[in-house]
Amino acid sequence: MPKQPQVIRTPEDMHALSAQLRAEGKSIALVPTMGALHAGHLSLIDYARAQADILVVSIFVNPLQFDRDADLDAYPRTWDADFALCVEHEVDAIYAPTVTAMYPDGFATKVIVSGLGQGLCGAHRPGHFDGVTTVVAKLFGAVMPNIAVFGQKDYQQLKIVQRMGADLDMDIKVVGRPTLREADGLAMSSRNVHLSPEEREQALCLRRALDKAGELAQAGERDVEKIKTAAAQVVEGASLARLEYLEVVDAENLAPLTRLEGPARMALAVWLGTTRLIDNDALNPH
Ligand code: PAF
Repeated sequence: MPKQPQVIRTPEDMHALSAQLRAEGKSIALVPTMGALHAGHLSLIDYARAQADILVVSIFVNPLQFDRDADLDAYPRTWDADFALCVEHEVDAIYAPTVTAMYPDGFATKVIVSGLGQGLCGAHRPGHFDGVTTVVAKLFGAVMPNIAVFGQKDYQQLKIVQRMGADLDMDIKVVGRPTLREADGLAMSSRNVHLSPEEREQALCLRRALDKAGELAQAGERDVEKIKTAAAQVVEGASLARLEYLEVVDAENLAPLTRLEGPARMALAVWLGTTRLIDNDALNPH
């Protein structure tokens, strides 16, 4: 029978376990999640499994990073299924602290990475990335991993966390792994469960918009405005979709671009009914 992961509920217990493991010379990999694990998370977990002696998955729906109460309330919570997947994927410990253990009375610290969080999702979700960096700094502090693995679907988050780790001398390798997609191209996301069948069908407009931009870049188009206009038209062609933003940015510093000259990323956010989906892909001059 596969080994059951240890479940840890407080930062103190997590810290004590990690300190003991590190003293024994063991390396630790962390995959931070908010649960509702799907194949995208499992690809991060399987990658992380091979990177260190001990694999910790954190499951914590972080209230600080939700800008809308309805989104926080509706966020899927699937502990039993998540636990079973962690057993199957040989996770050693699940760090699943309670909200009060993470944010007790008197909690007063925010970790803010300036600049990188201003555009893209940051422009539409006030305080979101401050909530992410604050919780990730706390997860890093309690788990003390050697390596932490994030998905590239949240590309802006990945870049912000990498910046935070470097700026705060955290000595943690922050790795981004490719987005996993459904067979038809939709990026896997815990939010996909909220889509009606019609919205699910039209959600393909995100991937198609990225493909359109890729085709234009491949054909030699360098004018970012033209690429954005063509890609936005793809989203606008889906009657249930509402485009929140579509941007082409420098792949490292996330600054908006006017010409495609070096490594770039196209990113977009689209609403389908009450569900907000994001996606992004590399967009490079050929
Ligand atoms: O990407 C997520 O699931 C969350 O933003 C994270 C990194 C677990 C922080 O709460």
